[in-house]
Amino acid sequence: MTNLLDASSSGLQTAARILREGGLVAFGTETVYGLGGDATQPKTVARIFEAKNRPRFNPLISHFADAQAAFTQVVANPLAHKLAEAFWPGPLTLILPRAPHSTVSDLAADGLPTLAVRVPKGETVQALLKLVQRPIAAPSANRSGRISPSDAAHVLEELGGRIDAVLDSGPCQVGVESTVLDISNPERPTLLRPGGITLEALQAVCGTIFMPETEVDAAPASPGRLLSHYAPHLPVRLNAVDVAPDEALLAFGNTQPSGATISWNLSASGNLEEAAARLFTGLRTLDKQGQSHHLRGIAVQPIPQHGLGLAIQDRLNRAAAPRPALPPEDLPA
Ligand code: TXA
Ligand code: MG
Repeated sequence: MTNLLDASSSGLQTAARILREGGLVAFGTETVYGLGGDATQPKTVARIFEAKNRPRFNPLISHFADAQAAFTQVVANPLAHKLAEAFWPGPLTLILPRAPHSTVSDLAADGLPTLAVRVPKGETVQALLKLVQRPIAAPSANRSGRISPSDAAHVLEELGGRIDAVLDSGPCQVGVESTVLDISNPERPTLLRPGGITLEALQAVCGTIFMPETEVDAAPASPGRLLSHYAPHLPVRLNAVDVAPDEALLAFGNTQPSGATISWNLSASGNLEEAAARLFTGLRTLDKQGQSHHLRGIAVQPIPQHGLGLAIQDRLNRAAAPRPALPPEDLPA
């Protein structure tokens, strides 16, 4: 049974108790819903992977109420303090060397010498993390390889029955995951995943931002970079300037190709923030409606490549990428 908790003080208390006792609670952040568990308890972390049906372990982000708590688990450098000052609480994850006395389990850190830390924004998640007072590991609360959930109902669809509770804080404001920036070497801040904090905003604080040297497929330094990810069941066609009769349309802006029977506009006014916030719900909705109307795919209009457009395009590229064989329970019924 998965308990649906509201963001009242008793809901928060219950969620915090479950987490401290080693249970799993999904909660909303400003980006997407996370599947949270106490990062210091290896058994709990193992249950996270199990609930998500992840094919293999990968390192998780530890979440904290504030920078001070986060920096007890890592060796923070001056750039980390500067970035925390500029962007926390907010959608930025920093990769830093793990502190020698870090209490985060090896399983949560995947045995790496570095740790991903983040201070999420949002009244409910902030209140929860303050109550728990532990590093909370939280990958996005979806089954492995699937679309990230941006409201509590999506979490129940993905993980209902597999986790202890969902703390409902309404729809997520940003809609795409946090930006992952590796500053373990502060001379070379490296963007591992585009996300809610734009490249332009990071450059304004750090100067040059480096891109990973390895190809996405070759070495998953950040497994969120695995190519196929965020995949709806229906195939996705990018940069579409037309739409076939058997396609649903993921639109952007105020000019659409004609002919789509089912469509979802990310932002009619062409606003990238609105588009990011509506991305995962749009993919999920078109996937569901498209399948029930026996459509064959989803056509996606071009997205401008600046600001949050980079994070949106990254997620769409993964949704469109060739897919590995899925375990049977992930196949469409
Ligand atoms: O917005 C978010 O970041 C959401 C919410 C719930 O906070 N969480 C999220 O977690 O997206 P997840 O597990 O889906 O993605 C975490 C990303 C992955 O790409 C992972 O590889 C990377 O962070 N990561 C974690 N630890 C790392 C490390 N030590 N070195 C490099 N990459 C790391
Ligand atoms: Mg994820």
